[in-house]
Amino acid sequence: MNQPSNWQKKLVEITPKGLNKVFFADNGSTAVDIALKMSFQYYKNKGLTKPYFVSLENSYHGESIAALSISDMGLYKDVYDEILIKSLKTSSPKDQSEEESKRALIELEILLKERAHEISAVIVEPLVQCAGSMSMYSPSYLVGLRKLCTQYDVLFIADEIAVGFGRTGKLFACEHANVSPDLMLLSKGLTGGYLPLSVVMIPDFIYDEFYSDYSNYKRAFLHSNSYTGNALCCSAALGTIEYLESNDIINNNQEKIKFINEELQKFKTLKNVKEIRQTGMIAAVELQGYKSEDRIGLEVYKYGLDNGVLLRPLAHIIYFMPPYVISKKEIKKMMDVAYEAIKRLP
Ligand SMILES: Cc1ncc(COP(=O)(O)O)c(C=O)c1O
Repeated sequence: MNQPSNWQKKLVEITPKGLNKVFFADNGSTAVDIALKMSFQYYKNKGLTKPYFVSLENSYHGESIAALSISDMGLYKDVYDEILIKSLKTSSPKDQSEEESKRALIELEILLKERAHEISAVIVEPLVQCAGSMSMYSPSYLVGLRKLCTQYDVLFIADEIAVGFGRTGKLFACEHANVSPDLMLLSKGLTGGYLPLSVVMIPDFIYDEFYSDYSNYKRAFLHSNSYTGNALCCSAALGTIEYLESNDIINNNQEKIKFINEELQKFKTLKNVKEIRQTGMIAAVELQGYKSEDRIGLEVYKYGLDNGVLLRPLAHIIYFMPPYVISKKEIKKMMDVAYEAIKRLP
């Protein structure tokens, strides 16, 4: 963490203001674990014990014990109930409206007012809860969350593992709200999805709380994994960032985002479609009128395969998260095949 390499400097340069230091890991769940440990120890080093973390209902942050604990996915976590760490849930905004954003913030504030003294951090997936049915919410929630975390002295962790690197239309989802979180987690798109790497970005004020001379070594953040900051993966990350920049990928995606939006509208005409939603390069079509045992997503998946499109529905949510190399012609094909698949459903 002491000697910034070129690509660390690059990460500092492109991420939201103030995130000046980089801690390496090798997968998303480990980055989540690191962020939780770091938040807890940050307060511990200041003489405060705050053993709880707050996360949103319907959230997914990975599958290590700590990441599962703060996630809200019964299917993956219920069996481990007795060994999970302390976590509190607050409701997520249920849609992209300002009303929902306000309602969820009021609920969070009630919790923080009562318990902030024992809460180290609030962790969210900014704008899109991907594994949670591609549920989307307004940037205003992040603005309010930033204010509340500062006001109640609780750290704000932005888990941009899925939404970072252009997925929401801007390089980072937090940019839509113009906020800097206290800890930001990146993986997946960091290496273009090709090699395992993750990072935890933090500001100086957190770093300084751990930094000390040797006599005070217990203040240090002790966390290491064999493949932490693997050189090959770091090169892939640097290459990915350089490619994104030199080919102006985020700007070029704007036209594709617009085209996806136009194509998405036709799904509204189908009786079995409850809602369409989109945030940048993520679009979702929510079906209605089916029971979970119908495994309706499987039918859509099979139709897609037979017609040259790999769709991977989340139960009754048919979603699109295409690679940025996709052409307009391929977007059209992807949406047309999904449309036909949904239209043919019983
Ligand atoms: C938002 C989010 N956080 C954390 C993770 C966990 O990352 P990994 O699968 O690399 O452990 C994921 C994985 O899908 C994710 O979507």
